[in-house]
Amino acid sequence: MSKALSKTFAPRLIAWHGVSGRSGLPWQDNRDPYAVWVSEIMLQQTQVATVLERYPRFMKRFPTVKKLAAAGVDEVLAEWAGLGYYSRARNLHACAKQVMSEFGGKFPSDPVLLEQLKGIGRSTAGAIAAFAFHERAPILDANVKRILARLFALDGAIQDKAVNDQLWQLATNLLPNKPADMPVYTQALMDFGATWCTSRKPVCLGSEKKCPFAKDCQANLSDQVLLLPQKTKKTKSPEFDCTMLLMRAGNSVLLQKRPSKAIWGGLWSLPEGSWTPRVSPAQKLELSLQELFSITLPDEKAAALVKANKSIGQVEEIKHVFTHRRLWMQIWQTSSSRELSFISPDLKWVPLSQLGRYGLPQPIKILLQGLSLVRDGDSKN
Ligand code: ADE
Repeated sequence: MSKALSKTFAPRLIAWHGVSGRSGLPWQDNRDPYAVWVSEIMLQQTQVATVLERYPRFMKRFPTVKKLAAAGVDEVLAEWAGLGYYSRARNLHACAKQVMSEFGGKFPSDPVLLEQLKGIGRSTAGAIAAFAFHERAPILDANVKRILARLFALDGAIQDKAVNDQLWQLATNLLPNKPADMPVYTQALMDFGATWCTSRKPVCLGSEKKCPFAKDCQANLSDQVLLLPQKTKKTKSPEFDCTMLLMRAGNSVLLQKRPSKAIWGGLWSLPEGSWTPRVSPAQKLELSLQELFSITLPDEKAAALVKANKSIGQVEEIKHVFTHRRLWMQIWQTSSSRELSFISPDLKWVPLSQLGRYGLPQPIKILLQGLSLVRDGDSKN
């Protein structure tokens, strides 16, 4: 790296932020480590516009790490419902407990210690250390990787370990000298990647704005901006079918708690069969019914009752796209005259009026809303 750039990058980026960066976001007013940590976790896979709405609500419900640690994981999951990537909520809860038990309720300032906490990766540890404690710790999220890969025209896929190590080294070399500059510098880096050095429409390729690094950026100088960063080729994610049962008894619906390690772990969903690689639609109907009768309910008597129920019918097919797979859910509806009892503690009859208290996967929530089973404002307490 040229000496000049390593010295001037941070002050120039901070100057850019003064004019074009984002300010006034609610999590920027509060540099309390707990508040910073919650906002960073929520912002990881969620758009700023959504976080603007949900972050204040979360902080009101769980204003301190102590309150979050003392809550039940189901309460945290219910508050997180709709934000997706639910392992974040489970980790948030586990991490709060760790902070209480291992650090006396105070987040450590050392990024190495922060990284040992549940759900905090190296880049998030850097962000928390920089924002809350002014530590000279680098961040390296996807936006920052793109900025650096372009600035230095890095060869090789950013997923490769050697390239990743090189990126961390560059991120460290570019840090400002003064610890007091760390919060604004870190925010500037995030904002520059999110709004100017974007993946498809970087400002250097438009005519409206002038990138402050246009003359330093090796990708710009060699006309490779859209080719960088290099990524390994993605294969199409596999598709699965899954049968689900929407069973009602009077004003209740049967829900099943999902295993904590599974997708939507810990949320309450409809009882479901196993996931099978997606087959052609004609075959599917046959298979779904068969699967519904044989697998859906763990209890033999209940399964027999479902099978004997003539009114059972498929109400909907929903497609849901995860990061690494696509799922087609075939929903079968039936009703029973009474609330059948089950041996499995994971199964529960939930009155429709109380559905809002349960963390439901987003497509299931939408389905139930569509069937007028869940209302948006259902009680959360
Ligand atoms: N993404 C992750 N952290 C962020 C932050 N502090 N501001 C805006 N976007 C972010």
